[in-house]
Amino acid sequence: MTTFAERPAAVVDVANIARIYDYYLGGLYNFAVDREKAERIRTMLPSVDLLARANRDWLRRSVRFLIAQGVDQFIDLASGLPTMNNTHEVAHARNPQARVVYVDCEPSAVRHGEEILAGEPLVAMIEADGRDPEQVWSHPSTRELIDLSRPVGILMGGLLVFVDDAQDPAALVTSYREACAPGSYLSISHLSDDLADEDTRVQVGRMTDAYLAGVGQQLYVRDRKVIASWFEGMELVEPGLTLMADWRPDPGLDVDAQTASRVLGYGATARVL
Ligand SMILES: C[S@@+](CC[C@H](N)C(=O)[O-])C[C@H]1O[C@@H](n2cnc3c(N)ncnc32)[C@H](O)[C@@H]1O
Repeated sequence: MTTFAERPAAVVDVANIARIYDYYLGGLYNFAVDREKAERIRTMLPSVDLLARANRDWLRRSVRFLIAQGVDQFIDLASGLPTMNNTHEVAHARNPQARVVYVDCEPSAVRHGEEILAGEPLVAMIEADGRDPEQVWSHPSTRELIDLSRPVGILMGGLLVFVDDAQDPAALVTSYREACAPGSYLSISHLSDDLADEDTRVQVGRMTDAYLAGVGQQLYVRDRKVIASWFEGMELVEPGLTLMADWRPDPGLDVDAQTASRVLGYGATARVL
C-alpha cells in the first residue's frame, strides 16, 4: 500500500471534505488542493475553522462523558479522518479497551483512515453511507467490534447536516436508536443560524454555497426546534440541547469565544431508554 505522502496524483487532485476539515483542525492529512478550497470557503465565513474546532471539541467532551458513563463501544458516523482528538484517541486515553468504528462515505478518506489506524485492533474505519443504518450494521468490522446487546455510543457529529429533509433525519435517528440496547447514548451536533446576526447568517449561506461548489456537498442549516425534535423518546443528558460550546464546557477552553460563529452549532447527548 502506498503511504499517505505517495498518493497518486488522481487522488490528491480532488479536494475532499474530510481533508478540508482536517486542515481547519490544524491537522497534517491534507493536500494543496484541499487547503486551496478550504481558504476559498474561509473567505465566505472567516471563522469557519473555529466552528470546526468547536464541533470537534464538543465531540471530544461527548466521548469523555460517555466513557465516564461506562460506554466502551462507539459508532462514529460521518467521522472524517481519525486524527486531531477524534473518538478513539479520546476514548483510549481513558479506556484503552474501548472499541470504535469510524464510518465515512468518502472512499479516499476511508483509505487514509485505514492507514492511520493500522495496528489498532480495536478500531476500524469503514466505508458506508451513514444515511443507511443497515449498511453500517451489516459491515463485517461493525459485526466484529460492536456488540449491540450492550450499550453503545452513537456519534453523529455533523452527519445530519448532510441529510436532506426528504431523506428524513428524524427517521434516521429513530432507526439508530431502535437498533441500540437500553443505556446506549446518541450524541448529535448540527449547524444552525437561528441565533446568528444578519451578517453572519449571510456568511453561513455563502459558506454552504462554497461547500456545494467546491466539493459538491450540500450542507443543511436547521433551527433549534427541529434539532430538539430528534431527541424525542430519549432522555436528554444535562444540560440538554445547547450551543456546542455550552455543552459541559471545559472552563477556559472555549475555542470560539470571540467570534460570531460561536452560535452556529447545537449539540446534545441523550440516553436510550
Ligand atoms: C465535518 S466532517 C467530520 C466531522 C466529525 N464527525 C466531527 O464531529 O468532528 C464530515 C465528514 O462526513 C462525511 N460524510 C458526509 N456525508 C456522509 C454520509 N452520508 N455518510 C457517511 N459520511 C458522510 C464526509 O465525507 C466528511 O468526512
